[in-house]
Amino acid sequence: MKNDLLLRVARGEKTERTPVWLMRQAGRILPQYRALRGKLSGFKELVETPDLAAEVTIQPVDELGVDAAIIFSDILVIPEAMGLPYQMVEKQGPWFENTIKSKTDVERMIVSEAEGVRYTLDAIEITKKELNGRVPLIGFAGAPWTIFCYMIEGQGSKTFSKARRFLFEEPALSHQLFEKITRSTINYLKGQIASGADLVQVFDSWAGILQPVQYKEFGLRYLQQICNEIQEVPKTVFAKGAWFVQDRICNLDCEVVGLDWHSDPYEFRTQNPNKVLQGNLDPAVLYAQPEEVEKQTLAMLEWFGDEKHIANLGHGVYPDTPLENVRVFVDTVKNHHHK
Ligand code: CP3
Repeated sequence: MKNDLLLRVARGEKTERTPVWLMRQAGRILPQYRALRGKLSGFKELVETPDLAAEVTIQPVDELGVDAAIIFSDILVIPEAMGLPYQMVEKQGPWFENTIKSKTDVERMIVSEAEGVRYTLDAIEITKKELNGRVPLIGFAGAPWTIFCYMIEGQGSKTFSKARRFLFEEPALSHQLFEKITRSTINYLKGQIASGADLVQVFDSWAGILQPVQYKEFGLRYLQQICNEIQEVPKTVFAKGAWFVQDRICNLDCEVVGLDWHSDPYEFRTQNPNKVLQGNLDPAVLYAQPEEVEKQTLAMLEWFGDEKHIANLGHGVYPDTPLENVRVFVDTVKNHHHK
């Protein structure tokens, strides 16, 4: 591998500089993406056509010079493989025709094998060939709690109150569903690794909406199962809003912990000196003037320190972010050499 900075840092090694990539880098910030996407029937066609998914996965590597590619897909491919097809509604987001409401619904869900998402495995194989060792390829999946949210709710929500209600009304049934999601996710991540993923990230986007006891019971427990079973490559856990269980997240069997912008980098680093941390600039900073973007990026690098840090935003880059500022962010990290 020509540039293996990300993997070396994930393994805890010292490097000459901090690696950088952005969550949601393969997407609407890039004109090449918008052009290709505009010619297709929709988002799903892009996800399900391996050659095209590989093409947009590599776009940010060519265009921005980031230190990693992340495979173009979506976390919602798992609910679909388990039996709940999704649609991506233009300007609105995900939508499921059927949702989980009863015991029969849970029983109908299958534990998906990796083959259930064959198109993403194929996209990974093609991407690996085309990247030809330029940078590592990140595979990913949603965390069981976040997947559960969409399976119950059937669409995005500010509160996911239906999903939270289900935990209280049907705790045993909830665990049955979590078991199936977790098995499917492990199968899928193992499939991605067998197809060439060099590191995997688990996104728990809705971690922050549960109270701590419940997040331990329904969130962390299944993250732990995933971390314990995936031993082939380094793992990153990104649990957005889960600062209330930060010690437990850091104690998971994962090499890297992703931070959102609510965590104070200096404090977090001081409290967890041995963990590799990823993050965590507020994506809204990228709307500031370029000088300000540079200043805030340098401050972040200083707070995390030169070792055990992978530079990223605290959540996915917003689609209308000025590309020039994304470049400033990436270049500032790449020009900052360690002493
Ligand atoms: O560049 C990358 O990071 C790789 C691709 C990627 C996508 N989705 C492509 C995508 C990744 C890693 C995801 C993860 C994902 N998907 C998450 C977890 C991360 C997070 O942001 O919290 C979640 C919650 C989803 C579910 C999802 N997919 C939503 C809520 C939406 C609609 C909102 C939006 O951003 O439009 C999507 C659609 C989606 N997934 C798009 C992309 C590029 C935009 C759709 C388009 O191009 O038409």
